[in-house]
Amino acid sequence: MRKAVPSVITKIKARQILDSRGIPTVEVDLFTHKGMFRASVPSGDPSGMYEALELRDGDKGTYLGNSVNRAVKNINERISEALVGMDPILQSQIDQAMIDLDKTEKKGELGANAILAVSIAACKAGAAEKEVPLYKHIADLAGKTNLTLPVPAFTVISGGKHAGNNLAIQDIMILPIGASSFGEALQMGSETYHHLKAVIAEKYGAHGCNVGEDGVTFGSIREGLDLVKEAINRTGYNEKIKIAIDVAATDFCKGEEFLPPNSQYPIVSIEDPFDKEDWEHTKSTARVTLQVVGDDLLMSNPKRIERAILDSTCNALLLKINQIGTVTEAIEVVKLANDVPWGVVISHRSGETEDSFIADLSVGLASGQIKAGAPCRGERLAKYNQLLHIEEELGDHAIYAGEDYRQCL
Ligand code: PGA
Ligand code: ZN
Repeated sequence: MRKAVPSVITKIKARQILDSRGIPTVEVDLFTHKGMFRASVPSGDPSGMYEALELRDGDKGTYLGNSVNRAVKNINERISEALVGMDPILQSQIDQAMIDLDKTEKKGELGANAILAVSIAACKAGAAEKEVPLYKHIADLAGKTNLTLPVPAFTVISGGKHAGNNLAIQDIMILPIGASSFGEALQMGSETYHHLKAVIAEKYGAHGCNVGEDGVTFGSIREGLDLVKEAINRTGYNEKIKIAIDVAATDFCKGEEFLPPNSQYPIVSIEDPFDKEDWEHTKSTARVTLQVVGDDLLMSNPKRIERAILDSTCNALLLKINQIGTVTEAIEVVKLANDVPWGVVISHRSGETEDSFIADLSVGLASGQIKAGAPCRGERLAKYNQLLHIEEELGDHAIYAGEDYRQCL
């Protein structure tokens, strides 16, 4: 039952906070008659010119140029002026109002960090206004009826730019697709992670024990995969846990396609196996049974997604919401992927906050997969723990994507 009190945004107040890397990011409090709704935005390595622009002050003397005071000011003044009085349920109108105010293709005027923070806070306010859970409101906005708990892709070994070791590829992840619930998947992920710590300690000594972040000096990808395989063996889950890798080939591999070592590893998904501007090498990969995920290749950009669909360049979308900048546009790119149909991985960034919005987004959009880092550290667990809350709330209606992780439309 809707109340007589008008359902509108009454106030918006933003501030600068720090992300998980200790770098400034934007947080916003959005008020309606129902209360205060807080959101903050993640940040990662910019992968190229096709993503929405993160507005930073650039004053080298303050946070090494990374402060976001201009983005905060844009929210407190221009965005606030445009949005106060609007109904928080009307997500697409709110997002369009900010896009119109910004007027640039990459949201560089107001900052995608400013726009996304408000867009997420408005989405939370919209859910509260409707008195439904956030994931349900998102499902309504997207026209989805099947709420699904995603298969988590847990990072267990980091390499590439994310670590100080010799592993060229960026992540080795585990996918507990054989779990019967999200809760069981989290348990499998956590147990494997802790077994891996022990396997690494036995092999390299206590100093090599820093998994999921950096520290271990690997000679090769095979060495990393062998450690993960051994950890999986120790859990006893065996074929219930599959392996995914993020090659992030742009960082080290130009002009050729990175092929995973075959046969003896249960690899089911490979992300960015070729340079992000290499549209040629990819065509062969897309035809094999592996999931080929486009992250740096697509940059969550609809035009690049359309091209990749036409060229069969990959067969799954990695969605980083801050590369696109509003909830409405995030829903639209997921629809593009669903129509093919492609797999969809809702992804965190290397710089995260405790905001768990992407957990609700992955359930509401029935993405089937979420990539939110290792099963440790608060800003990563914020997402996984929120998925536990959602699973508990859905009770008998909770469906875990499991084996259908690539296509649970
Ligand atoms: P990023 O890394 O957030 O630093 O871009 C995440 C990824 O490549 O998947
Ligand atoms: Zn990636």
